[in-house]
Amino acid sequence: MINKIKRNVPIFSQGQDSIWLDDHLAPQMLAAHLDTEFDGATRNAEYIKRSMEWLTKKCPAQDFPQLLDLGCGPGIYAEKFFEAGYHVKGIDFSELSIAYAQESADGKKYDIDYQCGNYLAEDLGSEQYDVIVLIYCDLGVFSSEDRKRLFKKVNRALKKGGRFIFDVFTLEKYKSFEAAKTWQLEENNFWTKEACLHLSAQKRYPGTNTYLDQHYLLYPEAVKEFFIWETVFAADELLAELSACGFAGSEVFGDLHGILYTAESETLCLVVEK
Ligand SMILES: C[S@@+](CC[C@H](N)C(=O)[O-])C[C@H]1O[C@@H](n2cnc3c(N)ncnc32)[C@H](O)[C@@H]1O
Repeated sequence: MINKIKRNVPIFSQGQDSIWLDDHLAPQMLAAHLDTEFDGATRNAEYIKRSMEWLTKKCPAQDFPQLLDLGCGPGIYAEKFFEAGYHVKGIDFSELSIAYAQESADGKKYDIDYQCGNYLAEDLGSEQYDVIVLIYCDLGVFSSEDRKRLFKKVNRALKKGGRFIFDVFTLEKYKSFEAAKTWQLEENNFWTKEACLHLSAQKRYPGTNTYLDQHYLLYPEAVKEFFIWETVFAADELLAELSACGFAGSEVFGDLHGILYTAESETLCLVVEK
């Protein structure tokens, strides 16, 4: 265990456990998605309402009918897109979230096509969608190779003139960041039900805009290991990558409400066109 903790984790290596898929954490993440007050796994209800107003003006359903929601979670946005008149497909690798989304859609008789799968690995098809969304800064978890792979898949899946809309965090988010290491004895909380020793570390990878939030939960007979990666971006570097992956027109905003992007913006929202 000491050797494990001592080693410098290679950038973007995956921990043995995932916060989205772990038996104890997946239900906590689902609860965080469903909490309308707080920006947990899904943003708060007021943010979502305003982002839907903007998105449906930016890409109206009558002109952009086929919509793919990458990392749809329990379908919070997917249902609102359906209500706004889009034909919606949602993909998420959390079985729990997709089961919740499906049950909710069935209950409301919403014809939404949900798929449980990893959107990096699944075939997203070709020339199928008018709009593809990746909401709540999920792009930041990927290595640059996976990011470019995703851009190419999204580009292929879009119809000509189709739009890819996503947000990411900017350097502003970490402007007061300080590396840290902590330990706690924990029980019955977000991280764990049974008592464990929780070791955590937060650091920036030198020479990059990538941060690691690393957690080890030590139990008498087991260890859990979570690596949460986050890269933050400037608009120019992303636009250059997108252009190399086949995207043409682009618009830059400060968030999913379409506010102006400034040097102080903590998020950046791109609308790029195939
Ligand atoms: C931060 S949440 C955002 C959820 C949703 N977009 C929203 O704003 O309400 C990220 C979601 O993406 C899912 N996810 C992360 N990586 C994924 C992947 N590679 N393939 C499929 N789903 C993924 C997680 O299970 C989670 O539901």
